[in-house]
Amino acid sequence: MHGHHVEDELCVCFHVSRAKIIRYVKRERPRVVSLVSQCMSAGTGCGWCIPFLQRIHEDVMAGREPEPMMSRDEYLRRRAEYHRRIKGIGAEPEQGREPRGAG
Ligand code: FES
Repeated sequence: MHGHHVEDELCVCFHVSRAKIIRYVKRERPRVVSLVSQCMSAGTGCGWCIPFLQRIHEDVMAGREPEPMMSRDEYLRRRAEYHRRIKGIGAEPEQGREPRGAG
């Protein structure tokens, strides 16, 4: 049973665990999720964990137990994919289709 790692790092960039974020939101009840980022730097690196922060914030503020996350392996794999994607953005020059066969 290793699907649910509550103490795992949610923000890998700043080493902030999911449990820490949940505790913080429960205690402080910040009105907006950016306050969580301000306090712990979570989400201010690559940005990958922001949707997960938002989700936790939403759940806790609505009085729900935050949903268990995907496995750590899956989480890290998706994060790596995300990094590949954002690296692609901006690095790629606009490519106009060249008309062919004109003559
Ligand atoms: S994983 Fe949180 S900002 Fe990169």
